[in-house]
Amino acid sequence: MNLSILRHAKNKTNNSSFKVKNGVKNGNLIIRKSNFRLATAANTQTWATTINGPDNFKLNRTDYMKHYANIQPHSLSIKDMERFRADCETILENECEVESRIQVENISSFLVNELLIRCANVIVENKGLPRALRENDHFQRLEANYGQTFDELFNFKNTNNQNLTNFNDLLRKIKNRHGSVIEDMAFAVQEYKHHCEDSSENYLEKPMTKYLDRFYMSRIGIRFLIEHHLDASTEIYEKFPLVDQENEENDCSDKKNGFSDSTKKNKDNIRVDRFGRLEKQSVSEILEICYENARSICDNLYMDSPALELDITENVESTYPCAHLEYIFFEILKNAMKATMERCENEKLTDPPPIKVLIRQGKNDVTIKISDRAGGAPSCEIEKWFDYMYSTSPAPVLGCNTGSVMAGFGVGLPLSKLYARFLSGDLDVQTVNGYGTDVYIYLKNKNLDKREVLPNYRPNIQKKSFKKYGQTRKDWIGGDFKM
Ligand SMILES: Nc1ncnc2c1ncn2[C@@H]1O[C@H](COP(=O)(O)OP(=O)(O)O)[C@@H](O)[C@H]1O
Ligand SMILES: [Mg+2]
Repeated sequence: MNLSILRHAKNKTNNSSFKVKNGVKNGNLIIRKSNFRLATAANTQTWATTINGPDNFKLNRTDYMKHYANIQPHSLSIKDMERFRADCETILENECEVESRIQVENISSFLVNELLIRCANVIVENKGLPRALRENDHFQRLEANYGQTFDELFNFKNTNNQNLTNFNDLLRKIKNRHGSVIEDMAFAVQEYKHHCEDSSENYLEKPMTKYLDRFYMSRIGIRFLIEHHLDASTEIYEKFPLVDQENEENDCSDKKNGFSDSTKKNKDNIRVDRFGRLEKQSVSEILEICYENARSICDNLYMDSPALELDITENVESTYPCAHLEYIFFEILKNAMKATMERCENEKLTDPPPIKVLIRQGKNDVTIKISDRAGGAPSCEIEKWFDYMYSTSPAPVLGCNTGSVMAGFGVGLPLSKLYARFLSGDLDVQTVNGYGTDVYIYLKNKNLDKREVLPNYRPNIQKKSFKKYGQTRKDWIGGDFKM
């Protein structure tokens, strides 16, 4: 099965309008109140009723920002999201308008508050960074973008014109605005590093890595919430997109609520279970597609590439944001291929040794082990591999598309580790100097265990100077703490 087929199938939405008797029409999303208990977090709601609205916003912006930065983000699990889906299905089945409207209000208010909290956490935490970094142009652009997003969310929260169409438009705008965050931050830190080299300022590698772990993890969470909500709300109102159109007119059970059977078959009889950004997919199929993508870059660069040897005993499926898995596999495979081809060049080998991938599912974890025989590295170097912007390849030119570059940004490994840890998984590297490298990727099996791991600004971080920037359990929330 080919992922491009799935992608195509996913985009094929059924446009026939969704029928809810006396219900909410297309473009609105319905959510059961019980499902978003978090949305009514007491402190946020109470505070919301005491503010005077956007009129005095400019005057009190700093206070508002501090207020939100002092609220702990809510860590959601995949199970929470699935529960929400199930509630939606029930409400759609029951054709209940009042509940539908409550759902709309709750999802908007939960997300607006949550995004305000997460944005404010980032903005306020950034204020503790070294001055020269904060004065960097790339950094200032990035910071201004976060500020603008906070302002727009705050205004939306206080406007009378709240509906899901407006909200989703705002989310799309926010998503586009922050599209180049990774590049912006990479260039800001690179230039700051040069500044330190040219002046007497000490570049603090470890605190910087720890700060960037937090910054990027927060970005992963914010983006995931936005993208999942945009996709899920569209799907709910445009019906589940993989309904077979030919059978649709005769199939009353499907027609009733659009997605009564959440596991559908598309025209190629491929079973797809998808909701928003969550997709139940075969891990080995995703890996094979990533291998092909990495291989084409490798072939272009070295005129050859290592073969893939896949060791699987069963088809392991996982409900996961597929884009996260794709990122991890693509980056790890590129690293393995590059190191292998360099070894071949150095040792004049004609046949590149293959990359071996083992996939197994245990009671708690799915483990993916990606092994190369590229010569490995001294064990003391492994820690450096996880430093941001550490690379043994030349840095790509400004403006290059990170997606099509073999190496050089130095963010492949550290970001892959964050993507693995985001839903309580992990990524570990073991190397045998003179032989090769094994990368272990662990994903949680149960949806309840797949819980967001997020940085928390309060209460510890705000008291720490950047020099002593360390991390304890209290600086993170949700999932398993491994930072
Ligand atoms: N499988 C591997 N074998 C040897 N070295 C590796 C391997 N994977 C990663 N590395 C080292 O780790 C560094 C950082 O990797 P990464 O974060 O992906 O950045 P980049 O690929 O842009 O250099 C690489 O530059 C390389 O020196
Ligand atoms: Mg890389």
